[in-house]
Amino acid sequence: MKKNILLPGGAGFIGSHVAAELLTRGYDVVIVDDLSNARADVIDRLERITGVRPAFYRIDAADKPALEQVFAENAIDAVIHFAGYKAVGESVAKPVSYYRNNLDTTLTLLETMSDHGVKELIFSSSATVYGVDNPAPYTEDMPRGGCTNPYGWTKAMIEQILQDACVADPALRVVCLRYFNPVGAHESGLIGEMPNGIPNNLMPYITQTAAGIRKELSVFGNDYPTPDGTGVRDFIHVVDLAKGHVAALSYADAHPGWEAINLGTGCGTSVLELVGTFASVNDISVPYRIAPRRSGDLAVCYAATDKARRLLGWQAEKTVADMCRDSWRWQQSSAKL
Ligand code: UD1
Repeated sequence: MKKNILLPGGAGFIGSHVAAELLTRGYDVVIVDDLSNARADVIDRLERITGVRPAFYRIDAADKPALEQVFAENAIDAVIHFAGYKAVGESVAKPVSYYRNNLDTTLTLLETMSDHGVKELIFSSSATVYGVDNPAPYTEDMPRGGCTNPYGWTKAMIEQILQDACVADPALRVVCLRYFNPVGAHESGLIGEMPNGIPNNLMPYITQTAAGIRKELSVFGNDYPTPDGTGVRDFIHVVDLAKGHVAALSYADAHPGWEAINLGTGCGTSVLELVGTFASVNDISVPYRIAPRRSGDLAVCYAATDKARRLLGWQAEKTVADMCRDSWRWQQSSAKL
């Protein structure tokens, strides 16, 4: 039987890549997005990539009556929940808005799922839930918390809410996917990340610097206890990440209860290594200067990947060079939008 998957926040960076993966594999996809951080033409682009047009509702997933209608009009089998604010710095400036939005969306979804007997949910979580007290590599059994910003706390709180919901309803099947650092873009060059304004994250800053939109990259700190002194992260290609969601859906079909699973490569790459790989595979210069550390940053963050391999039969396949090539292709094609 063809499965019908609801994607709140499905027009965004990660959601759109998951939508492409699902449509390619024959799933039906219903996207709900208020387009507060995405563009409507993503739906056209998904159709161009996959040959299938997903259903689309321009609504806020926290709007209960509107969401009710989506569930009434579509026989939803499972939900992959991406709807949420995600800018770390902004969350420090506007904590109430972050808690209101990210928690409300999730609570509304859970209530509406319950009203309609939908039991399966994959949640877009983050490695940020490991906080500052755990050493890398992060294993899923480490305690949650110690987050350095409200954005991170919303992820940790939502995980807790979902865990509690699974205790109360043993038929619920929930997987929290803890993303490491998603970068790259679809190889078609048709979908990718579109940060609003000046990017906070490293890869979009690199691509915009290479394109001449930014003068130079600030490398935040070169005195960390790492081989070259710059921060080390687990960059993962967004298409690998998307495939992890499809694997999580299959897993959740057969496994009631709550589970948290890392989606990372298990390999650390430093900021300067990423800049160097980007420059060499794309044959372009990325001017940078060393700047002070950014507050809240960790020296090293990478995943333990055994659980994803064991439970999902999934592992990341793309290289850092692939990530750099695809991010640059997207930067160049998105400039023409
Ligand atoms: C952050 C969040 C994470 C979130 C992710 C994606 C924290 C602690 N981290 O991860 O929860 O899921 O963004 O939104 O909440 N860097 C520079 N110059 C720049 C930008 C970044 O040197 O202009 C460095 C950073 O210091 C860091 C690395 O690049 O060492 C990666 O930074 P970034 O892309 O912002 O991701 P994280 O901070 O790892």
